Parts: sequence; structure tokens; C-alpha cells
Amino acid sequence: MIRSTTLRTTRRTGRRNDCLGGVLVFTALLAGLPAADAAAVDAPARGRRGMVVCAEPAAGHAAVAVLREGGSAADAAITAAFVLAVTEPYASGLGGGGLIVGYDRHERRAYALDARETAPAAATPQMFLGDDGTVVADRSRTGALSVAVPGLVRGLWQLHQSCGRLPWPRLLAPAVTLARDGFAMPEMLTARLAEQHALGRLAADFQAVFLPQGRLPDPGDRLVQGDLARTLSQLAQAGPAAFYTGEIAAAMVAAVQAAGGLLTTDDLAAYRAVWREPIRGHYRGHTVVSMPPPSSGGVHLVQMLNILADFDLAAAGYGSAEAWHPMLEAMKLAYRDRSLYLGDPDFSTVPVDWLISRARADSLRAGLRHDRVAMPAEEPAGGVPAAVVSPEPEHTTHVSVVDADGNAVAATLTINLVFGSGMLAAGTGVILNDQMDDFAAAAHAPNAFGLIQGEANAVAPGKRPLSSMTPTLVLDRDDVVLVAGSPGGSVIITATLQAIIHVLDFGMDARQAVSAPRVHHQWSPADAWHESFGMSPSTRRELERRGHTFRTRPLMGNVQLIVRDRAAGIWTGASDPRGMGLAIGY
Ligand code: GLY
Repeated sequence: MIRSTTLRTTRRTGRRNDCLGGVLVFTALLAGLPAADAAAVDAPARGRRGMVVCAEPAAGHAAVAVLREGGSAADAAITAAFVLAVTEPYASGLGGGGLIVGYDRHERRAYALDARETAPAAATPQMFLGDDGTVVADRSRTGALSVAVPGLVRGLWQLHQSCGRLPWPRLLAPAVTLARDGFAMPEMLTARLAEQHALGRLAADFQAVFLPQGRLPDPGDRLVQGDLARTLSQLAQAGPAAFYTGEIAAAMVAAVQAAGGLLTTDDLAAYRAVWREPIRGHYRGHTVVSMPPPSSGGVHLVQMLNILADFDLAAAGYGSAEAWHPMLEAMKLAYRDRSLYLGDPDFSTVPVDWLISRARADSLRAGLRHDRVAMPAEEPAGGVPAAVVSPEPEHTTHVSVVDADGNAVAATLTINLVFGSGMLAAGTGVILNDQMDDFAAAAHAPNAFGLIQGEANAVAPGKRPLSSMTPTLVLDRDDVVLVAGSPGGSVIITATLQAIIHVLDFGMDARQAVSAPRVHHQWSPADAWHESFGMSPSTRRELERRGHTFRTRPLMGNVQLIVRDRAAGIWTGASDPRGMGLAIGY
């Protein structure tokens, strides 16, 4: 296996990490293979020139073909995003949004592009409250009122205008082909159709495309999306104007308004993606570059790393109570701050500099204790929302790319929950997001991921809902050495955090870093999570002795990770075995 020897880490050479054997077994279990075959799936992919790591294979193959033709990392990410809109319709798409962090190696410039959805102009802070003033949770999660103004198409266009090399129509061509000619549906897709259909979340126009003649498809059945192919072809020819004005826009508005929603043609015509200054932090001699508000991802990733910087996690060892205790405490503190301070920076003052300052980390760390939890967490009124306790609560997707010039892109893309609002604009193939649920329907009311949020994230016209998406780059001086990100709702930030820690502190290679069992705490609910079979009984007992309480979830996150092995002069990459993605070097 390739080791990431050039990253400066606190790993002790020769130190035995008792948990790595467990990591390999865990990987093998996830892959459905006997443990003896673990080595066959454990080597990271290698690439001399570049790398794509993507949550879905067809998107990864299409993106790496773009790199081979001389396309930039941004070009490859754009192609992956359009293909994902076809092949992972439960996770992201034209009717959703995305957050992108990139690095231009020639200019030595990091950038962040915010293609987050916005609340329609007619949105109000009370729109998710019933007559009695209490939150009607389903209203923000399914159907017309949950739909925010889509941002992805405009964002990808702006990324191409700034960082693209190949022609725009070339970048959309693989998506057009896959939508027009179809593809064999994986079980991941058919299972989600069955599950969401059973929940009654899929509207009639959605069912007309995905459940023809009312029949749920089987794995391997072909999914042809003719309307989506036509929409993508129009985008390829005319750019975003074809989406934000004209027939496609009119169809989206008609679908939403007919079902009682607020989206208008003016909302769509007014939508713009926003270039923002990335969040920057430092950890173990590296620069961490991540997404600023309206995502909470970068702020709290850096905040947690700042808190953890004074702990010798490497000496504690992966999977030990000594390592997981401060990590869980840092997570809890960061998610408390998230609930108090984070929102759209264009609407409220978010104290970013203070949150990511050493002083803030020092004061939070000073309250921590080695022998027991320092702060009780909060149990939400009314208990934990169903989405949080379901085995597959998440969606969203991610692609990580580096090109032959050292440019990098981390792009996290979403329509929010599985199949977004469950609505599709007839005649367009466009599935509409339910991103309005990422607002606080009321102060302290948990969203579908159980996240408690405050006034800074209240609904307002034109405002962007707070995200957890954490597309992230790690640089060693002027060079990108790590690209990461994950889907998974509230676990996105902690999954990305642990990918970085697994590499920089524990010296894991890319495959080990994405495979290793993870923990999570989000302040509310009061319990921490660990993955089923992801924590040894003795470690759990020791953490419980210190006051931690636990729930388990089968899997958390789906990290897409690239790590530079500078000694070998290659890129290494791994797609999380919790998902069905792949890493392809070239
Ligand atoms: N919709 C998930 C997120 O943006 O965090």
C-alpha cells in the first residue's frame, strides 16, 4: 500500500496501531468480501498526473476522460456534476445547488463558489409554522413549499467561465448521452425509489419518470430520462439562460405553483452564484482551505482542528478513548456554536474570524477535562427527528479532482434529502430540491438532520439556508496535498474532519482514511454516534466511564478523498466503501 510519507504528520514510525486491522476488516465487510480479501480492495488508486474520486462511477469515468483531453480540474468537476444529476438523482441535480472550493496552482489562488439555493422572494419566517404556531416539519421536507431557487446550473457556468478550458457543450455531453440512452440502475437507486415511494414522498410527475406504469424498477433495469436529456442539450447549447428563463424555468414554476409553492420566474431569473473568500486554517503544518458561510462546514472544520491541535492524537492512537474523547468534545462545542452563530452572511453578521481564531479554540479547550465530558449536550424538545435515526438519512454527493497542473476542485452537490422535495418539473426531467429544510423553521426546532439552529438561519426572502457541506483542500505551502468532502447532512463536517485527522495525525493512506470507522457528535441530541461495530467494547466502556452516551448508526458519510504522496510523486485516491463510488487516477 502507498503510504502518505510526505505529509508532515505526528505519526510515530514503527508504532503499532491496533485498530488498523479492524479498519481492514471493516472495509472488507462493507465491500461484502471475506476479511482475507481485504488487501484486494484496500490499495488506494494511483495517478501520476491527476485523480478523480467521485461518489458514482459513471461520473468519475466521464470526469477523468475530461482530464485526459486536457480539461482542467474545474472542467472535470463540471462534467461529474452533470453526470451525477443523471445517475444519482436521489442526491444532487439541476434542481439543487452546490458548494465548490478550488485551487488555481498557476495563480496560487484558492477560491470558493457558492451555488447554494435561495429562498423564494415570497418566503416568510412563518411559512413552516401551523396555525397553532408550531413547526409542521414535513412542509419544509416534501412538496412545493420545500423548494428553494436552484443554484447548481448557474454555479457550474460561473466556474466554467472562470476556470474552464474545454468547451461547455463538451462538458455536458456525457450527461446528455447517459440521460438519453439510459443506464442500468444500481441497487442503491432502486432501493431508494422503493423506500421513498413507501414513504409517499414521490409526486405523480416524479413517478411518471421513475416508476413507469406504477411499477418500481428492479436493480439492472434501464433508466432512460428523455426529458432530462433534452434539458441538458438545451443547457449545452444556450448556457444557463436556457434554465433560468424560458420554457424550462416556466415548467419548474408551474410545477411548484400548482402544488401551492412560492417559486416564480423572477426568482429564477435573479439567481446568481457568489464567489466568496474561502475559510483558511492551519493544522499540523498544513493550510486547510474550506467553504465559508452560508456553509457552516469550513468554519467548524477549522474550529475543531484548532481545538484538537493541542492534543497528541497520534500518540493516543486511532480508535482509542484518548483520541475519541477530545474529538467528540470538540465536535460538541463546534456544533453548539453552529446553532448559535451561523447563517447566511449576506443577511446576518456571522463572527467568522472569532469562531476560527486561536483565542476561541483556546477558551473552548480550556474548559475540557481529560477524565470526563465537560459540558452536557442538549436533547431536542420532541425527540430526535425520524430522518436522523433512519439507516439512510442522508443525501448530497461529492467529487474531488486534481489535474496535471496541480489545480484542484472539491465540489459538494445536493438537492438535500433523498430525491429532494419528491417533485419533478414535468417535461424537463428536473427534480426539485427541498433545501428550505436547511433553514430553522423556528428557532431551536431541529431540521431533518436533527440540527438545532437559531435566528441567524431564520427564513427570509432571497436568503441562503445554512449548509454543512465541507468541500476542503489541504495545502503544503503552495501545493494541494489533500482534497476531501462528503455527503451526509449533519455528519458531513465530522466525516471530513476525520478524513483529515486520519491522514495527518494517524498516517493512514487514502483508503484507510476513508474506511476507518467514524464517530460523530452534533451537540443536540445529547448522545454521540458511532458506526455499528465501529468501536471496540472496551473503548466504548472507557468513553461511557467519562460520561459519553452513544447511539449507533450503520454508516456515517461517504468521503471522497485524494492524498498526494510526494515521495512517490503520485496522487492516491479512495472512495469511501460506505458508498458505491470510485477513485480513478491517470
Ligand atoms: N443539504 C445539506 C447541507 O447543505 O448541509
